Amino acid sequence: MLKVTLVFCLATLWSLTFAILPRPCRDFPSFTSVNVSDCEGDFSPCPFVKGSNVTLTASFISNIDSQNTTIAVFGKITTLKIRTPFPISPNSGCFYGIPCPIKKNEEYTFQLTMPIRRLYPAIRVDTGLELFGDNNARIACVQFPARIQ
Ligand SMILES: *[C@@H]1O[C@H](CO)[C@@H](O)[C@H](O)[C@H]1NC(C)=O
Ligand SMILES: *[C@@H]1O[C@H](CO)[C@@H](O)[C@H](O)[C@H]1NC(C)=O
Ligand SMILES: *[C@@H]1O[C@H](CO)[C@@H](O)[C@H](O)[C@H]1NC(C)=O
Repeated sequence: MLKVTLVFCLATLWSLTFAILPRPCRDFPSFTSVNVSDCEGDFSPCPFVKGSNVTLTASFISNIDSQNTTIAVFGKITTLKIRTPFPISPNSGCFYGIPCPIKKNEEYTFQLTMPIRRLYPAIRVDTGLELFGDNNARIACVQFPARIQ
């Protein structure tokens, strides 16, 4: 019994230690918090189930004053290094809870629902969520692994 408990504890510890977390992007500030439906706390990888919607919730502290914002989501096919967009329409942050305009040093949260289309290939993609301000200023970005299934 003690052995089983110990093994269980070690397994739990292992999975906690090695849970994959969202990671920052190069040359971009980070979001202060990101949640993706169906992978709370563990992004190893997030399931993107065809025919369902994935909900992305993210908070950021703006590094600029900006009249408007643009949201982009892309999938990078890990093996081929191809970057392909998940279409977001409309793509202005104003439609997802970010006010227009935003102010520097203020914190904002938005929520986006993204359909996972049945025609998508069942593959693993490194997913990126990017937020831009006026003149394509970089506000925040995050990357995490997902598996279309
Ligand atoms: C996904 O979201 C769209 C738009 O909000 C909605 O029409 C559709 O019913 C949702 N699909 C599922 C499977 O929840
Ligand atoms: C993500 O979930 C955590 C835990 O439930 C919560 O504290 C945090 O505010 C959430 N972040 C966003 C951006 O919704
Ligand atoms: C922000 O941009 C979107 C898309 O370009 C546009 O539809 C919207 O009216 C703009 N909002 C403001 C407040 O400028």
